[in-house]
Amino acid sequence: MTKTNTASSSISSALVSLSWKENVLQLLDQTLLPETVLYLDLSRINEVWEAISQMKVRGAPAIGIAAAFGVYLGVRDHEAVKEDDSENKRELDKQVNEAADYLATSRPTAVNLFWALDRIRARAAKDADDPQTTYEAMKANILQEAKLIQQEDEETCRLIGEHALTLMQDGMGVLTHCNAGGLATARYGTALAPFYLAKDQGMNIKVFADETRPVLQGARLTAFELQQAGIDVTLICDNMAGYVMSKGMVQAVIVGTDRVAANGDVANKIGTYSVAVLAKAHGIPFYVACPLSTIDLNTPTGEQIPIEERDEQEITAAFGKRTAPEGIQVFNPAFDVTSHEYVTAIITEKGIVRPSYLENLPKLFD
Ligand code: MRU
Repeated sequence: MTKTNTASSSISSALVSLSWKENVLQLLDQTLLPETVLYLDLSRINEVWEAISQMKVRGAPAIGIAAAFGVYLGVRDHEAVKEDDSENKRELDKQVNEAADYLATSRPTAVNLFWALDRIRARAAKDADDPQTTYEAMKANILQEAKLIQQEDEETCRLIGEHALTLMQDGMGVLTHCNAGGLATARYGTALAPFYLAKDQGMNIKVFADETRPVLQGARLTAFELQQAGIDVTLICDNMAGYVMSKGMVQAVIVGTDRVAANGDVANKIGTYSVAVLAKAHGIPFYVACPLSTIDLNTPTGEQIPIEERDEQEITAAFGKRTAPEGIQVFNPAFDVTSHEYVTAIITEKGIVRPSYLENLPKLFD
């Protein structure tokens, strides 16, 4: 793994979370933001696994994209040693599945990870079965599929932003939690996409960003990327959200999600559920923005969504400073589930979905 430091005093407003460049996965190390802008050059599958697991790359769509490239890195050195090309292809297909199985263990909650890995698996399986596809073409197609996933995500996020913007008016205050922005996706983000589009159209939306304990994606990433883009953003601590709502400072909440269950229950960064309850108490709409790849119709309700638990140090000694006594018991779930009852609408690239989610979410896949 080599590192490219591109830190400068005028950081571009369009920092790209990850890209495929000169045969490596170039990835922005998000654990170092906002102080340091450092791109890592990943050329091995285990480096991608670590980057996902350590949250150097994070956010559901970005995790999926990174994993797709990770599979390619895992099979890139595979060689065709058999006489028979179809046997070589079967071997390559086997290795693709092994690489995907390995990357699937990097983080459990965001379904985009498994969705992207399944897309790569399907591409390889199709090519392995197709006598017209050579071994070399099959390998090249794996990389091609990963690039396609990334390109599609950019377009998807733009469409989500357009739909979300129809729910917003000039001058309104909107609260968001965690980071569902350009850093969490190929570009634009999901929940943050309308803010970029609003800015382009000369609309002023006043964004309130929860800082998002314990690892501060709201402070380090959302506040950072919106500020860089010249968007009106105000940072608040998580426990200020209720006060801000009670003072009439926000007229809507919009968040991203890591997985939407078939009944519309939504897993997102820990603290989202509290925000949703507060929004309901104040009569404020609570919107969830996500691509179709985040909707998991195979998971019936939020109860079945696996919730990642992370290292206790994120709470007791985050960013190198001890803030709790040694030996204290800690519970550190990284996500929570917001019941569909609190979700006013789910905004996707195919449009805005309202309850009943059980009836309306499947129609998106028709
Ligand atoms: O733990 P993280 O930082 O990966 O959690 C990210 C979130 O919860 C985001 O809101 C979600 O992935 C949507 S990103 C478009």
